[in-house]
Amino acid sequence: EHSGKMNIAIDGPAGAGKSTIARLVAKRLGYVYVDTGAMYRAVTWHMLERNIDPENTVEVLQEAQNLVIELIPDEEGQKVLANEVDVTADIRSLAINRIVSRYAQIEGLRVKLAALQRQMALRKGVVMDGRDIGTHVLPDAEVKVFMTATVQERARRRYAEMNASESITLEQLEREIAARDQLDEQREFSPLVCAEDATVLDTTLMPIEEVVESIIAMAQSVQSGR
Ligand code: DC
Repeated sequence: EHSGKMNIAIDGPAGAGKSTIARLVAKRLGYVYVDTGAMYRAVTWHMLERNIDPENTVEVLQEAQNLVIELIPDEEGQKVLANEVDVTADIRSLAINRIVSRYAQIEGLRVKLAALQRQMALRKGVVMDGRDIGTHVLPDAEVKVFMTATVQERARRRYAEMNASESITLEQLEREIAARDQLDEQREFSPLVCAEDATVLDTTLMPIEEVVESIIAMAQSVQSGR
């Protein structure tokens, strides 16, 4: 490998800290952060705009053919575009949280997004987070992490970063996160599961810096083993 760069896959359930950590690791290494959840969210946003129900897979796939999803790196991380519409803020709403896993179950949609994700990682130097990166999208990633935390802690984190205009209790959020995890884990095609060769990091009690350092250490040990 000429550039000496590698790919880093970070998977795990909602709110485990993947995006925060992936962004920081990418910054430290000078790599590109790719948030694959944002891609599923952008597709969901687009389908909701057009009133296309996730049950209606034929129409979803037809509409997806003419949909261009772009991730554009910027200072805060990345901008997300759906057919050139900036959806960066809108895709974080409760409405999207509640239904995104239903669209993410559609096999044809996953095939399309996975192809795009692989293309983004072709030149290496990518930190990619999601649910199926180490198992399905980038099975050859040099570093694979499966990040977890208790559902209580994950709900607490999501609650803390939520917009004040969203009305939901912490308990309600915890139930919704658990329901989404279950859909992601039980879907037929590339479900949320820990890759056999991934390192499990339970971040419940770990400070962010410590998680970042441990992933950097994994990357360095791959590098020195070459
Ligand atoms: O990471 P996130 O919460 O932004 O992801 C939103 C949803 O997208 C998640 O509930 C499942 C789906 N997803 C997926 O199925 N595969 C991925 N690689 C990333 C996300």
